[in-house]
Amino acid sequence: MVKITETVLRDANQSLMATRMPFEAFEPILKTMDKAGYHSIECWGGATFDSCLRYLKEDPWERLRKIKAACPETKLQMLLRGQNLLGYKHYPDDVVRLFVKKSVENGIDIIRIFDALNDLRNIEVAVDETLKNGAEASGAICYTLSPIHNNEMYVDLARKMESMGVQSICVKDMAGLLSPKEGYELVSELKKNVKVPIVVHTHCSTGLGYMTLLKCAEAGADVIDTAISSFSGGTSQPATETMIYTLRQLGYDVPVTEKYCKKINDFFKRYHNKCLEEGLINPVVMGTQTETLIYQIPGGMLSNLVSQLTAQNELDRLDEVLEETPKVRADFGYPPLVTPMSQMVGVQAVSNVLSGERYKNASTEIRSYLKGEYGKAPGKVNEEVRKKILGEEKVHTSRYADTLEPGIPKAKEEYGDKIACDEDLLSYIMFPAQAEEFFSERELRKKNTFSYKISEIE
Ligand code: CO
Repeated sequence: MVKITETVLRDANQSLMATRMPFEAFEPILKTMDKAGYHSIECWGGATFDSCLRYLKEDPWERLRKIKAACPETKLQMLLRGQNLLGYKHYPDDVVRLFVKKSVENGIDIIRIFDALNDLRNIEVAVDETLKNGAEASGAICYTLSPIHNNEMYVDLARKMESMGVQSICVKDMAGLLSPKEGYELVSELKKNVKVPIVVHTHCSTGLGYMTLLKCAEAGADVIDTAISSFSGGTSQPATETMIYTLRQLGYDVPVTEKYCKKINDFFKRYHNKCLEEGLINPVVMGTQTETLIYQIPGGMLSNLVSQLTAQNELDRLDEVLEETPKVRADFGYPPLVTPMSQMVGVQAVSNVLSGERYKNASTEIRSYLKGEYGKAPGKVNEEVRKKILGEEKVHTSRYADTLEPGIPKAKEEYGDKIACDEDLLSYIMFPAQAEEFFSERELRKKNTFSYKISEIE
């Protein structure tokens, strides 16, 4: 049997339209999605939280509760960046625990937890709290290609995650780099070495996605991530219906009801067309970028490099930057090129080339990374480079979150009078400026509806 996780509400939304899908856009189809027979619906976490507060002016927690109310039968899934939660820095353990607890209370059933460096110390608290709250913890391994990353390393990570108590393991291929052959071999190794179900998550960016999911299913993958066809392909996932069609022909049981897929797709197709017309979806994201296979850097990172160089009128130096990028990555101990590392490595490579001196300048983020504030680099950091950037500054070897003061009491002191509940407090902690703005707007909205009602009575 191969089960399906539908990603249209989270990853497809994030990959194709920069997470700008408002709740109202998909509300009418939720009840149908609940009937389809998905293993889970990925609908929260990742960039959705930030986007709700920053752009959509929605309360992310309320969005989750509304999805849950409409989908009581299907497991709701979220993506969590370990100790970073849904923000961009490490939070203290008490914040991580409260966030996980509240996510489960508000409707999440499966929390997929990863760390950008695959440093398991950065996921253990979130995993522990997920289990304590009776939800499913899914440990995600960031898949990347480098001279030090191999199946042995991934199997070792999977074994350690299993002993932490995760109930499934996800191969998270954020750049669409996992090839059919590599996927087959990796899933085969994982199936031999761990007992929990294996989930495969990839993107179509390079064109490999469909073939890779098929080979992974052949190797025994239990769950695959797909997106309903109108929101599939390009930087998104392979299409749900196509994978079901293919797998069933080959004799796999796929417990999803096709007539509901049709309804779901009819619904999202109309919305997709509307988004194209309004410019919310750029057709470029729907294409195939094979450059990633040559340079082994994610498509999003490549376009960032191009736009950085264009902005500085230095696009003719792209080749030099593309040559410099893997060298920077090697100096930094081969971090997987996933947010935020992809941006950090890219900016450094551009700076190394344009300034004419390697590591003459380094961003605050790179300094934090080299100080160990993001966790442990997968490989060895070039100590000469570290010294050139940091000088004699202290480097953390222990888990960075251990050095942080508890965050909840401090936040309560700071925001206590403005917040109504723990959910609000967590929004504040992660995105203070955006939350502040959103909450005052929400207050205003409440008052406006109120006065409107009064005037109606009068
Ligand atoms: Co993804």
